[in-house]
Amino acid sequence: MSIEISASILAADFLHLEEEIRSAVSSGIDGLHFDIMDGHFVPNLTFGPLIIKHANAAAQIPFSVHLMVDNPDFYIDECLEAGATSVFVHLETHIHLHRTLSRISEKGGRAGVALNPASPLSFLPYVIDVTDEILIMTVNPGFASQHMIPSVLPKIREARAISNNLGKPVKISVDGGINLETLAAVVESGAHNVVTASAFFGAKDRRVFVEEMKKKAGAISFRP
Ligand code: DX5
Ligand code: ZN
Repeated sequence: MSIEISASILAADFLHLEEEIRSAVSSGIDGLHFDIMDGHFVPNLTFGPLIIKHANAAAQIPFSVHLMVDNPDFYIDECLEAGATSVFVHLETHIHLHRTLSRISEKGGRAGVALNPASPLSFLPYVIDVTDEILIMTVNPGFASQHMIPSVLPKIREARAISNNLGKPVKISVDGGINLETLAAVVESGAHNVVTASAFFGAKDRRVFVEEMKKKAGAISFRP
């Protein structure tokens, strides 16, 4: 199966961010992923939409923004104005999920829902009309370099089946602990896109890493 690869700048060298972004783009990735954390929803702090705006000057590829914050509604407009293509809000932060997803679409973005490892997919039929993408977390969000939680993998296949059965196939991204070893299980389960921070930025040769990931994914079939 062909797979898209998004590089999360969480594991980039922040003292040389422009160089890191240019190197990521030239390695053949399909998108950049921005992990925004507020120190409340997750026990870590990162950066805000300003970084997306600056990155936009150095990279003309799709940007996905992963809002790990208590009040995602505060940041949506700014992220889209800064150049985000897709915006993921966490299911766990939302009372008015349908409203927020509608707002992302109205403002021109692709609307995405991110799910913590323990969160179920039961919400999906009720917001399918306003959902373009799902981000399945295979680690507890907050940090790069964690190990994938294998018990979450069936959720990828389930998300694909539910959205297909509803007649609106959504794009499924998987985020957390993805590397050359864990990729196979994710692709086999039906992911369209994988997010990688530490494996990508820590690779000896990022271009070779992307080639190897794509080659590996290409040799695997999705098993419904
Ligand atoms: C975790 C973030 C991920 C993280 C992935 O909270 O959402 O995007 O950067 O890092 P790795 O690929 O190192 O697990
Ligand atoms: Zn992320």
